Amino acid sequence: MDYFSEETSTDTVNGRIGATADPRLRLVMTGLVEHLHAFIKDVELTEAEWRVAIDFLTRTGQICSGNRQEFILLSDALGVSMLVDAINHRTSVGATETTVFGPFHVEGAPEREMGAVISLDGKGELCLYQGRVLDLDGQPVEDALVDVWSDNADGFYDVQQPGIQPQWNNRGIFRTGADGHYAFRGIRPVSYPIPDDGPVGQMLAAIGRHPWRPAHMHFRLTAPGCKPLITHIFVGGDSYLTSDAVFGVKQSLIADFLPADAPPERWQTRFDFILERLSPSD
Ligand code: BEZ
Ligand code: FE
Repeated sequence: MDYFSEETSTDTVNGRIGATADPRLRLVMTGLVEHLHAFIKDVELTEAEWRVAIDFLTRTGQICSGNRQEFILLSDALGVSMLVDAINHRTSVGATETTVFGPFHVEGAPEREMGAVISLDGKGELCLYQGRVLDLDGQPVEDALVDVWSDNADGFYDVQQPGIQPQWNNRGIFRTGADGHYAFRGIRPVSYPIPDDGPVGQMLAAIGRHPWRPAHMHFRLTAPGCKPLITHIFVGGDSYLTSDAVFGVKQSLIADFLPADAPPERWQTRFDFILERLSPSD
C-alpha cells in the first residue's frame, strides 16, 4: 500500500473506497477520480488555477435560488446535459429526437382548447402550430398531453418576468383526440441568451463563446402507454442554429416557419411527433 504521490494518486484515492459501497456508486466514483486526476496531470493545474476553480464553483452555488439553477446552466453550457440526454434517450429509428429540458418549464400549465392562443401579452407575430402525435407504426396517439412553452417576443419566459408578463404567458397543454391531431397558436419565438449575469456567463465570455439559443418552442409529450418525449421545434433559418449555447439543436428538429394562409396568424408550421410505445420491460 503506497502513500499518496503524483504517480499513485488515482489508485491511492480509489483504494480507500470501502467494501460496503454500493457497486454503481463505486463505479461512478472511481471513474470520476480517474478522469479528474488524469485531467489535472494533463494540464498540470497551477495552484492559482485551482483557486479560480474553487471560487468559480463557490459562486455558482451561491447564485442558485428557487428559480435560478446555475449548476444546471453550467452542465448545459459544457454539453453535459445533452450528453446525458443522448445516452439516456437512444431513440428508435423514426421516433422524434429529444433535446434539453431547460429551466423554464412550469408544472400545472392550463389545459387549453385545441387551437387556442397561448400568447397572452399581445406581443410578437402569431404562428399556427399543428401536426399529429403518432406512434412508430404511424397510428395516431389518443389522449396525448402536449405541454408547450416558449419565450415572448422580448426573449423572456413568463417566470423570468413575474409581474411584467401575465402568468402562463406562452404556455399551455393540449390533449389529442382519436386522430392524434394537435393545434395551437403561439408566437414565432425569438432567439434569446441563457442567463449570463452569473459565473456561467463569465465563463462563456472568458472563452469567447456567446450565450445565445436559437429560437424554439418547447414540447413535453406524455401519453398512456408511450415513452414521454421532451424536445423542441427550432425555427428554420435562425442564425444561432449552428452555435446554440447549450448544444440542443438536432437537424430533425428544425422546422420551416412559412407565411400563414390567413390573418390573424403571420406564420404557420407543421410538425408530427413520433412516440415510442412502452414495452413490457420499460
Ligand atoms: C431553454 O431552452 O429554455 C434553456 C435551456 C438550457 C439553458 C437555458 C435555457
Ligand atoms: Fe427555451
